[in-house]
Amino acid sequence: MGSTELAALLADARSCVVFTGAGISTESGIPDFRSPGGVWSRYDPRDFTFSRYVRSPEVRELSWRMRYELWQSAPRPNPAHRVLADLEARGLIVGVITQNIDGLHQDAGSRRVVEIHGSSRDVLCIGASPRTGTPQGCGFKAPHEWAYELLEAGALDPPCPECGGIVKTGTVSFGQNLYPDVLEEAGALTRGADLLVAIGSSLQVHPAAGIPTTAQEAGAALAIINDEPTPLDDAADLVVRGRAGEVLPEVTRMIDDDNDRSRSE
Ligand code: APR
Repeated sequence: MGSTELAALLADARSCVVFTGAGISTESGIPDFRSPGGVWSRYDPRDFTFSRYVRSPEVRELSWRMRYELWQSAPRPNPAHRVLADLEARGLIVGVITQNIDGLHQDAGSRRVVEIHGSSRDVLCIGASPRTGTPQGCGFKAPHEWAYELLEAGALDPPCPECGGIVKTGTVSFGQNLYPDVLEEAGALTRGADLLVAIGSSLQVHPAAGIPTTAQEAGAALAIINDEPTPLDDAADLVVRGRAGEVLPEVTRMIDDDNDRSRSE
């Protein structure tokens, strides 16, 4: 139910933007945050704010352990990520704005990906004691493997090799300001959309969760693919209840069938 309507919306759209959350990566083995058994059912989100990371070596050590374990598990894109890359290649979507930091959209081949909550693929110096929710580092930056090699050699909280400051993944934590250039690109994509498809997000964390409404206010239709209800379901033009890794391949099949039918006419 809903895949047929979504395929029709996609086929008619001139500028479809997809907005994803942790739910699109659960079928790659990465737990989401607010489902039963999700990350926030096992850890307290108040421990993962920017200021706690700056103040507490224990929080930094736990954060590095969690990142390292996820990296070790080597998650791969699932069919949902691959369908979005294929739809972009076909010109049916213009890009993805993702809240995810796992890099799986890029691994699947998506080219225009706006990582509104940053990425865990890089690490950077945030300085010795940044006061506000904005990194104030010396400029050191490296691929995340740099940190994992040090962790494997026994370091628990590797300091900046240039200035001795604190090193963090390039992710945006609670209480941290989003990167202005990323926000600007997400805003431009959102305002230019005539269809916004939100996939695998509980749509609860702002400002990111405001993107679907901003798109609607700019005239876009809103479709939601999620396996649980969201606060925007009533406002959406279409809600497809189901798992992204099943719904999206089904939508592609519908689009292909339509194309085959129109070719044979
Ligand atoms: N298919 C469709 N929906 C799914 C699937 C799936 N395979 N797996 C989970 N979901 C749904 C869940 O039911 C839930 O509604 O995806 C949603 C995920 O919601 P959250 O766990 O809240 O994740 P997200 O919306 O991305 O969280 C936003 O909160 O903790 C912060 O920074 C973190 O970026 C994150 C932000």
